Amino acid sequence: MATIKVRLNGPYLVDVPEDVKLVDWNGQEYTISRRPFALCRCGGSTTKPFCDGTHSKIGFAAAEAAVPGSSDKPASD
Ligand code: FES
Repeated sequence: MATIKVRLNGPYLVDVPEDVKLVDWNGQEYTISRRPFALCRCGGSTTKPFCDGTHSKIGFAAAEAAVPGSSDKPASD
């Protein structure tokens, strides 16, 4: 099963047990050379769509974990 962890004030950490295809908005396909891999959530990475650690340098502070009123809720343990 694939797992996507939302890191506190950081990237989406994607861990998948097998090959995965990553395609951006215009059809550009990216090679995934290692797993897990991190996708930028702050918008500051110079290697988008991947995280390059810039979130730490710019002091990225993520919004709330869930949008109030959304039907999507964190799964309980
Ligand atoms: S989340 Fe790490 S550089 Fe954007």
